[in-house]
Amino acid sequence: MRVIVCDNYEEVSKQAAKIVASQLVLKPDSVLGLATGSTPVGMYNILSEMNKNGEIDFKDVTSFNLDEYYPMAAEHDQSYRYFMNENLFNGININMENTHVLSGTTDDPEKECADFEKMIDAAGGIDLQVLGIGQNGHIGFNEPDTFLYANTHLTDLTENTIQANSRFFEKIEDVPTQALTMGIATILKSKRIIILASGSNKREAVTDLIEGEISTNNPASMLKVHNDVIVICDKEAYSK
Ligand code: PGA
Repeated sequence: MRVIVCDNYEEVSKQAAKIVASQLVLKPDSVLGLATGSTPVGMYNILSEMNKNGEIDFKDVTSFNLDEYYPMAAEHDQSYRYFMNENLFNGININMENTHVLSGTTDDPEKECADFEKMIDAAGGIDLQVLGIGQNGHIGFNEPDTFLYANTHLTDLTENTIQANSRFFEKIEDVPTQALTMGIATILKSKRIIILASGSNKREAVTDLIEGEISTNNPASMLKVHNDVIVICDKEAYSK
C-alpha cells in the first residue's frame, strides 16, 4: 500500500484527480468504480473542469458506483444516483447509459446485486476504484462486523454510519437504515484502488488502515491484501 500525505483537502483532490486523469489517458475506455460522500467532491470538480478544457474524455468510460441507500428513489436528492448526476455525470461527456448505480427501489435486491456483479464482469472488471473511508473504517457500506460479505449485497447500516450521514437529512429518522453495496471481493477485484481521506475525524480510521492488523472489524484493512492501493490523505487524517 502506498500512502500519499497531502497538506490539505485541495491537494488530496488534485492528487486523486491526477490519478483518475492518467488512467483515462492510458485507457480511454476505462471502467471506473466511483464513490459518493463529501470526500470525492473536490476530485469530481477538478475532473469536470479537465473534461471541459478538453484534457480528459469520458466518452468511452463506463462507471459503477459502490453503493446506494435502500430503499431510496433515484430522484430523491439524497440518493447516490442523484449525487453522482449532480457532482459529476451532468458536468462531463460520459454516456449516461454507461453509468451504473444500484437501484434503491428494486423489489428484488438479491437479483439487483447479482446483476450488478455480472455487469461489472461483462465490462471487463473495474480498472480503477475510488474509495472514501468511514469513521468506523467502512468501505462502501461494508460495515465493521464479525464477518464481511464478498459480493454485492443488501446490508444494515451501523448506528455510527447513520449518525455520520444524518448531516445530509432533515432528521436522523429520515436516514435509511439499509443499503445495497459492493462487497469486499467486488472491491478487491478492481485492478487499482485509490482511497481518499481528509480531516481529523478520519484519523483513527486512516491510522488503523495503515498501521493496524487485517480485521473484519476494520473493513478498509482488507485493502492490505491488494497489490495496487494508494491511500491519499491530508495531514489531519494522518500525520505519521
Ligand atoms: P465522507 O464519507 O466522504 O462523506 O466522509 C466517506 C464514507 O463514509 O465512506
